[in-house]
Amino acid sequence: MLDNIQNIQNFKREKSVYNLNQQTFYDFSAFDLIKDKKSLLVCDNAFDCFGIEIPCKTVKFNSFTPNPKYEDILTGVKLLNETNCDCIVAVGGGSSIDTAKAIKYFSGIDNADNDSNSSIDNVNDDLPIMAIPTTSGTGSEATHFAAIYKNGEKYSLADERLLPEYVVLQADMLKTLPLYQKKCTMLDALCQAIESWWSRGATKESIQYSREAVKLILNNMEGYLNNEEFGNKKMLLASNLAGKAINITTTTAPHAMSYKLTTLYGLSHGHAVALCLPKVWKKMKNFSDIASTLGYQNYKEAVAFLEELLQKLEIFPPENVTEEELEILTNSVNAERLSNNPVLFDKETIKNLYKEILEV
Ligand SMILES: [Fe+2]
Repeated sequence: MLDNIQNIQNFKREKSVYNLNQQTFYDFSAFDLIKDKKSLLVCDNAFDCFGIEIPCKTVKFNSFTPNPKYEDILTGVKLLNETNCDCIVAVGGGSSIDTAKAIKYFSGIDNADNDSNSSIDNVNDDLPIMAIPTTSGTGSEATHFAAIYKNGEKYSLADERLLPEYVVLQADMLKTLPLYQKKCTMLDALCQAIESWWSRGATKESIQYSREAVKLILNNMEGYLNNEEFGNKKMLLASNLAGKAINITTTTAPHAMSYKLTTLYGLSHGHAVALCLPKVWKKMKNFSDIASTLGYQNYKEAVAFLEELLQKLEIFPPENVTEEELEILTNSVNAERLSNNPVLFDKETIKNLYKEILEV
């Protein structure tokens, strides 16, 4: 099944996926929309802390890992089909929302145990997803992508039908998030907004989302890190806007370079991306419009600001990196994922960038 995904993605990407056919709510009145339905509740173990009451029949699914595996998805599909759920409510960070999307993606498979070449065009159009993010980072609630893993390898699903139909942005959800997670998810949102902005695929619309997201992040960083309600509210909105931006453009080199840093050193996704972005920007130069939105005259000042921010937030690179690890990292970067980057990097440049990032 997964071997076919690349082809299917290309086919789907030709169609317009950029019109956000989505309703956003800022409270749980959204639940009225699903009160007559039976929902598959896709959530992680933190769900019970939130005290959310979903006013319809609910079947809970939490058997998935932070980087959801294909096998977990098939278990979810089986549960969805056996219990006749007709909507999915995803509560959590990117993993919960991506799991919900992937369950929808594969929900047309007749036999979930059968890893066959069934047609992916069976994606159920009549299975709405309500996404309730509990972190302000991935913006997954605003994209038509999902990442899942098979045999340790990352697969990206892309299909317009994966864009959640309903989104609930509730600032309360961020209150219990540990500080390190708050920092990393905020940095992920900031990097997504910046990468989308300089992406080759940027449009007038995506740049508007990016600009707004960057402003909101800068202006509300302090309140958000102090766990103030207003700051949390604005950061949730910023991450949603950054999600809308990458829904149009996808991400660029810092994201492409970050994935192996996460798997090799166990760094949080936002931590790994944020280590890469300033060095990539320094290499590419330019983008004074992004620098000026950050409050600086040129890229040099903006990069210095980002590097200082990482120091202040205590986001450091891993230590004692070996030559062998440098090779693994350099070879891990998927050329296709880099194609969106405004400047093309060859292998040697990528290796040198990793040396700078990892201070080798
Ligand atoms: Fe990201």
